Amino acid sequence: MTSLFSHRHGGAGYHPDMLDFSVSISPLHPFDAAPGIGTQSIRTYPSIDGSGIREFYCRRYGLEKDTVLALNGAIEGIYLLPRAIPLRRMLLFAPSFHDYMRAARIAGVETGFVRLDVSTGFAFPAYEELAETLSGYDALFACTPNNPTGTLLSPELIMALASRFPEKWFFVDEAFLQFLPGFEELTLMKHVGAFRNIVVVHSLTKFYAMPGLRLGALVGHPDTIRKLYDFKEPWTVNAIAENAARELTGCRAYEEALRLLVANERKKIMDAFSPMTSMRIAGGSANFFLVQWCGEGSFDSMLASLQGKGIIVRDCRNFDGLEGNYFRFSVRTTEENRILLDALRICDALQTGDRA
Ligand SMILES: Cc1ncc(COP(=O)(O)O)c(C=O)c1O
Repeated sequence: MTSLFSHRHGGAGYHPDMLDFSVSISPLHPFDAAPGIGTQSIRTYPSIDGSGIREFYCRRYGLEKDTVLALNGAIEGIYLLPRAIPLRRMLLFAPSFHDYMRAARIAGVETGFVRLDVSTGFAFPAYEELAETLSGYDALFACTPNNPTGTLLSPELIMALASRFPEKWFFVDEAFLQFLPGFEELTLMKHVGAFRNIVVVHSLTKFYAMPGLRLGALVGHPDTIRKLYDFKEPWTVNAIAENAARELTGCRAYEEALRLLVANERKKIMDAFSPMTSMRIAGGSANFFLVQWCGEGSFDSMLASLQGKGIIVRDCRNFDGLEGNYFRFSVRTTEENRILLDALRICDALQTGDRA
């Protein structure tokens, strides 16, 4: 059993003087100070069900209140699902976010894996293959875009599987989906009314740059959300987070500016990588890239040289299935990305020099 501290996540070495590309958080902020951070928010109990967050999802995405369960960050929902829903075996992808497996194990649910391979661009299996693999499982937990490979799962594929196997559960983590321009078409949130067995895990901490506040939701069919509430602790969303969520409904300009920044910077970053010979983009979408180090020099020295320049990227060697030399970095502001790319170009030039 992995303990809380045995698996290192990105951001773990956070230091205010370092440029942290290891967490995939927006580099922009929707507002400068957390709203409602006054004595009022601290001295009163929040609502028992995080209603400020539920209001955000209803107003911003037109969802019905009874389809939303507010969370203290998406992570709370990842652990709630296998605890609240009786399951025997859950199918996961590897590499993917570590906590699906840990949450399943804590809840006594067995896990099995479908390996995603670099040779196919970490593509998810096609419908028939996935349907066949699912025969031994009663749930699938998938991430789209997958962290850290960036692979996208089509909402149609999940809905087709959910219709074919109404007795199986489909948990879909959309923590990074909001960064994509086609988010509104790609999200399953608007389809949950038609499927009792699909639950979307959603996070507000990444897109709205609030990892310290912890905000997110499970979005599902009203019958499913009602069942999940039977297992949910009260007051897990604090009053500051509730107030912040209410403010987020008016942040359309921020959302557009962020998506535009990410799309423009992605193009520049991809162009910058094409002449490099010691590292290549192996995956990533939305606001992060997965890169494989193929230089002859040591990967540890390369990471240390970045750290020496005040830059942290996510060493991905502890992702199951990414034991090769992979790292992930997030898309940040134009100036911050320039600093990272300059540092990577120097690492690459040193490798090329080594071989010459
Ligand atoms: C794929 C994925 N889902 C969920 C989470 C947790 O999100 P939150 O900060 O909203 O709890 C993370 C955190 O890194 C993540 O990478």
